Amino acid sequence: RDAELLGSAAAERKRRAAAVIEEVERNLATPTALLRSIADAMVVEMERGLRGDIHACLKMLISYVDNLPTGDEHGLFYALDLGGTNFRVLRVQLGGREKRVVKQQYEEVSIPPHLMVGTSMELFDFIAAALAQFVDTEGEDFHLPEGRQRELGFTFSFPVNQTSISSGTLIKWTKGFSINGTVGEDVVAELSRAMERQGLDMKVTALVNDTVGTLAGGRYMDNDVVAAVILGTGTNAAYVEHANAIPKWTGLLPRSGNMVINTEWGSFKSDKLPLSEYDKAMDFESLNPGEQIYEKMISGMYLGEIVRRILLKLAHDASLFGDVVPPKLEQPFVLRTPDMSAMHHDSSHDLKILGAKLKDIVGVADTSLEVRYITRHICDIVAERGARLAAAGIYSILKKIGRDKVPSDGSKLPRTAVALDGGLYEHYKKFSSCVDSTLADLLGEEVSSSVVAKLANDGSGIGAALLAASHSQYAETD
Ligand code: GLC
Repeated sequence: RDAELLGSAAAERKRRAAAVIEEVERNLATPTALLRSIADAMVVEMERGLRGDIHACLKMLISYVDNLPTGDEHGLFYALDLGGTNFRVLRVQLGGREKRVVKQQYEEVSIPPHLMVGTSMELFDFIAAALAQFVDTEGEDFHLPEGRQRELGFTFSFPVNQTSISSGTLIKWTKGFSINGTVGEDVVAELSRAMERQGLDMKVTALVNDTVGTLAGGRYMDNDVVAAVILGTGTNAAYVEHANAIPKWTGLLPRSGNMVINTEWGSFKSDKLPLSEYDKAMDFESLNPGEQIYEKMISGMYLGEIVRRILLKLAHDASLFGDVVPPKLEQPFVLRTPDMSAMHHDSSHDLKILGAKLKDIVGVADTSLEVRYITRHICDIVAERGARLAAAGIYSILKKIGRDKVPSDGSKLPRTAVALDGGLYEHYKKFSSCVDSTLADLLGEEVSSSVVAKLANDGSGIGAALLAASHSQYAETD
C-alpha cells in the first residue's frame, strides 16, 4: 500500500509539472506569424518616435553622428565604455587608411555593485580614477603630438537626449543602475568634472550609445554595415536613417543626408509581446517597473531570472526539488544567465554539468535525470523566446530601411551587414544561433543570402575612439 501511495504521489507530481510546463510553452510561444506582427508594430513605433510623438515607446534618439568612420582617422584616442556590469577603458593609435589600427590596449574593470545604486559623484569619480590610472600606463607605442590634449570617446549605454555630438542629458537609468540625481544631467559634464578632480587633462569629443559605437566600429571594418545591435546585459539597436525621414530633426540637413538613430528598442512594449505571469512578476519587482519590457524578455540581465521564477513555480506546484522548496531558489537573480547558458548547453547523457549547477545554485544535490531534463527544457523555452524576439527586432529595422525584400524595380538587393555585440550574443551559442536562424527564416532565402549579421567584438570601444577622432577639436587643422 505504501508503495502504491508513493507511486500515486509521484504520478500526481508529474501531472502537475507537466501542466506547468505546458502552460509555460503556450505562454512563451513565438510562432513566426506573431514575430512578423511584432516587427510590424515595431516599425510603427519607430515612425512615431521619429515624428517626436511623446507617447511613442521607441524614443528613436538622434545621435548627432551623421558620418560614420571612413578609415582615414588617425592619431591617439581614448575610449571609455560604461553600461554593463563592467566598464572598459581603451586607447588606440589610428594610422589612417593604410595602417588602420596600429596598436590598441584596453583594460576592463568591474563596477562594485554598490556604485550602481549609489551617488552620481561616487560613480564618476570611480570611473575617472580608473581612467587616470590607465592613462598613466601609456607607453612609447602611443604618440600624442606636442601641445595636444588627449581626447576621449565616451560610450554611455543608457538613453540620452543628445544636445550635440559631445553632450547630452540622461533620460533614465536602465539595467539595474539606479543613481539619484543623474537623470536630466549632462553626463559629459559630470565625467569632465570627475576627470578634473583626478587632475586628468582630457576632453570628451564624442558621447555615444554602445549601439552607435558598435555601428561606427562595424562600419570601419565593413562598408556595408547599416545597423548595430547589442545583445548583452541589455538590448538595443542603432541604424543609419535618411535625415529627411526624421520629421523631428529641426537642424540643418547633414551633408551626408544621413543620421544615426539610437532606437532604444529595449523600451518597446506591445500587447503582441508574449508576456507571461513570470515576466509580469519580475517587472513588478524590478527597479524600473513598466519599463524596458522588450529588454526584460530578451537580455542577459533577465533571462536567468525568468528561468528561476519558472523553476520556483515548479518547485511549489510540483515539488520539483523535493518536498521543501529550496530557500536559495527564492532569492531573486541567484540564477545568472551565464549559468543558465551552461545548463542549456549540457549535452552529456546524464546532464552532469547541469546537475552540478543545480547543486551550486539551488542547493539541491542528487537531482533526478528527469528534473535535469525539465530544467534544460525551461532554459530552452526562455532562451528561444528571447532570441526569436531579438530576431524580430532586427527584421523590423531591415524593414524600416527597405532591406527586407528584393527591390521592386528588379535591381539587385545590396549586401547588408548588421554588427552585433554583447556578451549574450557572443557567449550564449544556442541563443545566437537561434537569432541567426530566425532572422534568416523571417527574411526568406533570397533576401537572407544578402544579409550578414556578424559579431563585431568590442566594436563599441573602437567605434567610440573613431568617433572621437572624427570629431576631434584638431580635426580641421589636420
Ligand atoms: C539598455 C540601454 C541602452 C543600451 C542597451 C545595451 O537598453 O538603455 O542605451 O544601448 O541597454 O547596452
